Amino acid sequence: MAFSIRNLVLGVTGGVAAYKAAELTRLLVKAGVGVRVVLTEGGAQFVTPHTFQALSGRHVFTNLWDTRVPNGMAHIDLSREAGAILVAPATADFMAKLVHGTADDLLSTLCLARECPLIIAPAMNRQMWENPATQRNVKQLRQDGVIILGPDSGDQACGETGMGRMLEPEDLMELLDAAFQPKVLRGQKVMITAGPTFEKIDAVRGITNQSSGKMGFAVAKAARDAGADVTLIAGPVSLPTPAGIRRIDVESAQDMLQAVNAGITLQDIFIGVAAVADYHPLQQFEHKLKKDANILHVELAPNADILANVASLPRPPFCVGFAAESQNLLDFAEQKRKKKHLPLLAANLVQTAFNSDENELVLLDDAGRHHLPKSDKLTQARQLIAHIAKLMQHGNPTTPVKHIDQSA
Ligand code: C5P
Repeated sequence: MAFSIRNLVLGVTGGVAAYKAAELTRLLVKAGVGVRVVLTEGGAQFVTPHTFQALSGRHVFTNLWDTRVPNGMAHIDLSREAGAILVAPATADFMAKLVHGTADDLLSTLCLARECPLIIAPAMNRQMWENPATQRNVKQLRQDGVIILGPDSGDQACGETGMGRMLEPEDLMELLDAAFQPKVLRGQKVMITAGPTFEKIDAVRGITNQSSGKMGFAVAKAARDAGADVTLIAGPVSLPTPAGIRRIDVESAQDMLQAVNAGITLQDIFIGVAAVADYHPLQQFEHKLKKDANILHVELAPNADILANVASLPRPPFCVGFAAESQNLLDFAEQKRKKKHLPLLAANLVQTAFNSDENELVLLDDAGRHHLPKSDKLTQARQLIAHIAKLMQHGNPTTPVKHIDQSA
């Protein structure tokens, strides 16, 4: 995944969560980010500069008067190249310093003298976090434009359980990347369907489509990161709910249709990523059918096409479809786009997308085909969202382009 920041100052203050900053440094470097670590005196009590030097491959700074900085002004020089300063962990004391503009060590002085965005990942004991003084500081820092990631709740080093744990390094990476995405869908309401549907035959059996839900969840994250208000309607998948997203779990295509209908009139954009089953058994049995030697006949009735229904509303949102095909991808996909009256459709080959963390979408719209080079699903989703925003900006955002239905 191409990370949104190329160079970062990572400030580490004196909390036990400083050990997580070592792993964070490793992940950032692996993602191609140049990391310049600045340790406070307290931070160096928990993890030594050598650890960060080895992980970042760069000198680590702890002192305002460091003579290694050519112009002798470490407090200005170190953040010059940086796209952001991230303080992780940020202690209650360091947050109080930021609120007051105190500049009595290298990191606090760097933060005061910065021109780039400041992000902090608080970490402290539950009572310290809940203390009105800390909560006042959180509010003030937000007002001052500081981005606050976390904290999380859970077990704490002091033996208590509650709010105050620093986010895990992987989660911080994801939120950091999200914070720097262009807000091309700010204020837009987006509904996304994801995963398969399950059409029950009896208490244990049913028919379904092969779908992990990973692409739909990635699209939901990308829309959220672009500033949208996201509703994700998910079929049966085993994926965690992304933070900041409203999730509605459904089982069958009929459930999915109902959930979509319940909220669709409020939406600006609808993205159908779900692999909706085309049929459901006409008869559904409450209890498990007993196995016998005879052929079992299951009569299947067609399901409603959710996306086509939404696209044919009198005032439809901007509708985007997905098409997974195992052959003739682009021809079949374009036929689908026309049949369902969609301004945009994302086509993917079953062989590339299924059971994979990567995809290689081809976006089909009125202007033609746009091939997205193979990458992880979140990167593909971000490109799709950027394309949707561009089309909405240039066209009519609420009325999809109508096509002549040649297949009808
Ligand atoms: O199944 P099909 O290939 O036609 O799916 C194309 C698009 O239509 C997908 O975006 C899918 O989510 C949507 N769809 C739907 N309801 C169905 C079938 C497909 O919303 N019953």
